[in-house]
Amino acid sequence: MNIKRREFLSNVTLGSASLLLPNIVFSQSANQPNELKLPELLTGNQQQGKRAYQLSVQSGISQFLPGLNTATLGINSAYLGPTMKLRKDDDVLLRVRNALEESTTLHWHGLHVPALSDGGPHQVIEPGAGWAPEFKVMQDAGTFWYHSHIVDRTGEQVYRGLAGMIIIEDENSNDLGLPAEYGVDDIPLIVQDRRFNNDGSLRYVQMHRDVMTGFYGDTVLVNGTHNPIFTPSSNKVRFRILNAANARTFNFAFDDNRQFDLVSSDGGLLNAPISSDRLLLAPAERADIVVDVSDGRPFRLLSLPVPANSPFAPRGMMRNMHPLNTENMDILAIQPQSNLRTSEALSPQLAAINSMEESAATQERRFVLSMVMGMGMGMRGGPGGRGNRGGGPGRGMRNQGNFFINNEAMDMAKINHRIKNGSTEIWRIENDSMMMHPFHVHHGQFQILDRNRVPASAIESGYKDTVKVGPGETVRFIMRFENFSDSENAYMYHCHILEHEDNGMMGQFTVE
Ligand code: C2O
Ligand code: CU
Ligand code: CU
Repeated sequence: MNIKRREFLSNVTLGSASLLLPNIVFSQSANQPNELKLPELLTGNQQQGKRAYQLSVQSGISQFLPGLNTATLGINSAYLGPTMKLRKDDDVLLRVRNALEESTTLHWHGLHVPALSDGGPHQVIEPGAGWAPEFKVMQDAGTFWYHSHIVDRTGEQVYRGLAGMIIIEDENSNDLGLPAEYGVDDIPLIVQDRRFNNDGSLRYVQMHRDVMTGFYGDTVLVNGTHNPIFTPSSNKVRFRILNAANARTFNFAFDDNRQFDLVSSDGGLLNAPISSDRLLLAPAERADIVVDVSDGRPFRLLSLPVPANSPFAPRGMMRNMHPLNTENMDILAIQPQSNLRTSEALSPQLAAINSMEESAATQERRFVLSMVMGMGMGMRGGPGGRGNRGGGPGRGMRNQGNFFINNEAMDMAKINHRIKNGSTEIWRIENDSMMMHPFHVHHGQFQILDRNRVPASAIESGYKDTVKVGPGETVRFIMRFENFSDSENAYMYHCHILEHEDNGMMGQFTVE
């Protein structure tokens, strides 16, 4: 679908976000649908009492658009990586090889692991080298992911393909009536937006606005499939949706407004399914939904514009900064087969999450997110300056936007917070900018306490590692820091809009 048509679509729906026209509009798509690709499932093999997984970070050539080749990066494949299935309580050994000609890292997003095994910007894997982190899987069942976290170039490497899904299973997770057959009724949806040049190459031009809003694409890929179609063979399907975009927030809905059951958030299963017809996911957020397709009718998963009255919509001059962030997007066509297998009934009770008591916290820390608008501000140094991170070849537009947490930009040499091992803390995130930032913390999962003093809604009641903080909002969450004591090696916290992260909106903490 070309850009002109998309602009037309967004004009049509402007000011009437609740009006759905997709059956008429989207069926005119000129492109043939492609069968949804499924990342290979990697279950590992037993090695010295551990479960070992081999991951090779490599470059490759992908075909996304008809007749065009695209140079990409991937893990064990040309684009994206295999879905790693881990089991709670397993000791795992990840053997990572970097077959690229550039350095990289792999971070296990959402997993509770020692800082040295975390794969953050300090655990660099040089070209040709290997890295073999080990850890015990300590988490309950859920949907997580892994991606490059290389300093200054995370946005570019993830954009080119360095990301994949992680599924954790535990004792209970297969007794709840949840669809669990990978690729059959348990389907990963790694949703990304990209821009292509005419020759098929990926475009990652960083105009000033691409850094300010984060990089938006006009073409959706799901598991690296352009214009994907999926044909369910059972009457219930679980979609594990991962927003792996650099910057775009997707507002998922079905074109016939059908309801679905939300069963899982970032950190695992919810206490009970929540019925909904909308799902707003910012970059790095995950949700598992269960959809009933027993009526046999074809339908589509879409992303609608974030409504202008949403607390997460951009404000002021950010509002019209990017023409690509107000459009409808077609995500996935779903065409059930004719003889659908009958799925089990979904258990009304899924997990048993205990709410953490505010009184358990020994400290409240404040994090203020801010950005400096305008071209070239960084050259003259905004608040806090750029630390020790100079410009240099390949650093692109890094001085065109300035992004801060507590008035400081990320400094690789600075530990911003030292947290006592075994403690519970409240983190208070204040957004002092005109746009939403998805705030992410390494080390573990948190529970959202309140948003502008209003207690977290049911949809946000599960474990989270990434939280949307709208312009002007204050969000408080509670988190336990435990198990791994290390005063040298740090974990990261940052905005998960990757261009913001790469341009300073990140900091470091130790648990010691
Ligand atoms: Cu998804 Cu610091 O990472
Ligand atoms: Cu992370
Ligand atoms: Cu941000």
